[in-house]
Amino acid sequence: MSENETVFNAEIDLPLLHRGKVRDVYAVDDETLLMIASDRISAFDVILPQPVPHKGEVLTQVTAWWLKQLEDRVPHHLISVDPEVIIARHPGLAPSRDKWAGRAMLVRRTQPVLVECVVRGYITGSAWKEYQSSGTLANERLPAGLQESERLDPPIFSPATKAAVGEHDENITFGQTIEVLGEELAVRLRELSLEIYEYGRGVAETRGIILADTKFEFGFDAKGELLLIDEVLTPDSSRFWPKESYGVGRGQPSLDKQPVRDWLDALQGWDKSPPAPDLPTGVVQAASDRYKDVFQRLTHTALADFEPPQFGDGT
Ligand SMILES: Nc1ncnc2c1ncn2[C@@H]1O[C@H](COP(=O)(O)OP(=O)(O)OP(=O)(O)O)[C@@H](O)[C@H]1O
Ligand SMILES: [Mg+2]
Repeated sequence: MSENETVFNAEIDLPLLHRGKVRDVYAVDDETLLMIASDRISAFDVILPQPVPHKGEVLTQVTAWWLKQLEDRVPHHLISVDPEVIIARHPGLAPSRDKWAGRAMLVRRTQPVLVECVVRGYITGSAWKEYQSSGTLANERLPAGLQESERLDPPIFSPATKAAVGEHDENITFGQTIEVLGEELAVRLRELSLEIYEYGRGVAETRGIILADTKFEFGFDAKGELLLIDEVLTPDSSRFWPKESYGVGRGQPSLDKQPVRDWLDALQGWDKSPPAPDLPTGVVQAASDRYKDVFQRLTHTALADFEPPQFGDGT
């Protein structure tokens, strides 16, 4: 991939199963998907017109970096992020290599569980709003007197339903999760989500990053095995806060999207519904630099020097 080439829509010659805010998901065969992280960026749930260079690559490689460490803890969907391995398995992908190399994950196709497994280790965002109005989180009572952005020990599993495109996810209680998924699966997802989050929160902390909260997805493969799917502990699926500026009693800057949010907040006359305004080059560049910095801070390796981790083929 050339240095500054960005991808807004991937346009690969395969059946496109899904185009989300960030990923284009293609069917390679009945069992395999190519998930391409574009450079699209969203703010306030609206996709912005300008792609952010290297963003897709960062999301994909961060996911691979975590999944390599999590291999022994949880079965996951990732087969490879290494273009050589992907092409060796699916030679038909060679001609389109430039459009996906570095930003694509070859994954096992699953039937996704229709609940987003959110874990919160700090109280912020919608959880802070709920707590302020009712003293609860996901309908369960929390200790009195918590302050905004305060650390939660133990972290809390606060699932949400997966919303259709253009709609917002809706928080549900653990009781409702049991109603949707059955008790056995609900309990299993809670256990796995909390375990993975606590592992991630600890590692991120040693890198000067507070992993405030995150969202996991799970799915069942053709054999009925439960796998961790989607992106994992990335700045898009999680809130990453810089440790050095953390303090309770206020909101925190986001390690990655802050330049974009600040610019949009300062802008008069956009009501945060589509279409979004064009971003100035400097803001796009600042966001790109932030994503690369997050990568380096987390992995201790520059994005350009990162060697894709290798995974067993799981067969
Ligand atoms: N192994 C897998 N098998 C099947 N579906 C998967 C797998 N991994 C991820 N997915 C699905 O692929 C999609 C990824 O797309 P993307 O994250 O861009 O969009 P989204 O989650 O639908 O919407 P949003 O823009 O809110 O993130 C998700 O719907 C996710 O559930
Ligand atoms: Mg998603």
